[in-house]
Amino acid sequence: MIEITFQNDEVKLVNTQNNTSETVLHFGGIHNNLTTISSSKLLQEYIHMLENYSTIQKYTYGETTMIDIVALTSLVYNELMAGKHSGIRALEVGSWFGCSSYFFANSLKTFSDSNFLFCMDTWQGSPDTASHNIANYENAFEHFKSVMRYAGVYDNIKPIVCDSTVGMDILQDDHFDIIFVDANHTYDYVYQDIVKGIRKIKVGGLLMGHDCECYADELPPHLLQGDNKHLDGVEGYHTGVIKALDDIFGRSYSRFNQSLVWYKRITQADKDMLLKITSKYNYDREGIVELVGTMKEAIQYIYNNISEGKSDILQTLTVDTVQAANQLEKEMLPLCENFYNKELKINTNMLKSALLDFQITFNNDFPQALSVLESKVIERFNVWSECFLESEI
Ligand SMILES: C[S@@+](CC[C@H](N)C(=O)[O-])C[C@H]1O[C@@H](n2cnc3c(N)ncnc32)[C@H](O)[C@@H]1O
Repeated sequence: MIEITFQNDEVKLVNTQNNTSETVLHFGGIHNNLTTISSSKLLQEYIHMLENYSTIQKYTYGETTMIDIVALTSLVYNELMAGKHSGIRALEVGSWFGCSSYFFANSLKTFSDSNFLFCMDTWQGSPDTASHNIANYENAFEHFKSVMRYAGVYDNIKPIVCDSTVGMDILQDDHFDIIFVDANHTYDYVYQDIVKGIRKIKVGGLLMGHDCECYADELPPHLLQGDNKHLDGVEGYHTGVIKALDDIFGRSYSRFNQSLVWYKRITQADKDMLLKITSKYNYDREGIVELVGTMKEAIQYIYNNISEGKSDILQTLTVDTVQAANQLEKEMLPLCENFYNKELKINTNMLKSALLDFQITFNNDFPQALSVLESKVIERFNVWSECFLESEI
């Protein structure tokens, strides 16, 4: 049994079974609390916040335990006491009814009203999570906002109603001081949320997450086999979270003792590692080369035969090539995003727009079509191919 105690100016976790204790927050240390807020005031605010746990848990149907909340909030407090404590931008991926959001936002607000927590969630629950069936988007999001208002942190919260697979891409890179990942816990989602979290956080920022019971080498081995890594919550382990962390960081991340919270300070080296990690994405390079090869052949055929006049076969090939360009764009844009390759992204867009121009001219001003082919399309294919070959994709 773990108890939380407040002694002098320390918050401790005491294991009553073996009588060991661990200090998780020390308000009086000279190395910390660079704010103008006194240590005793910070401790008071901290205790007051934790006293709200059972109320918040009741209103949020919270499954995040008190120990996990202590882990999350003491990491945030330590972070803000040790350095920058105002103008903080934090992000929570997965907020649900706002249990962790309240404690996260309250911790930030204690230090300054200029600190904000961005909460990204679909508010539609995670598939296969039984407790999430109690709500649909409408009432979950409204409920979240009501609880945040009632708890007095709404002004420091900025909700982003979005699926993280899309939403994380929209956010600015190197933008957040702290990120907490607690959305869909299956492997592919957690992997993406963490990788994107590394990209969105500033160098030196604190990346954290929930539901990590142990390191991967401490898991029962059969859970890592085959498709088991995609399981969530089986035999008491969030295997997806644990395996994703292992694939990204190996053992070089920390677990907050007694809790399910993991954390890692993100360095430039972690950001550089992204390139290697993203190259692990399974994508079909040969398929892309083949698709572009077929497009080129079709364009070459059109080019060789266009002087004969408009024909059904040229018309069909034009439509097919534009469709192929759409497919290419669909496949390339996420890859370019993952590999930080803006040039290839622009060239993919330009190739598609050159083909669209050609299609429009082909349909509306056929005599001009040859010159569009020569001046735009063929050139764009060459530039695209060169850029693709030079890229690390
Ligand atoms: C475990 S709950 C979050 C719990 C919350 N942090 C707390 O302590 O109360 C997971 C949340 O992630 C959200 N979610 C699941 N998949 C998501 C996705 N792909 N993008 C954004 N949110 C997602 C669900 O709607 C749900 O609200």
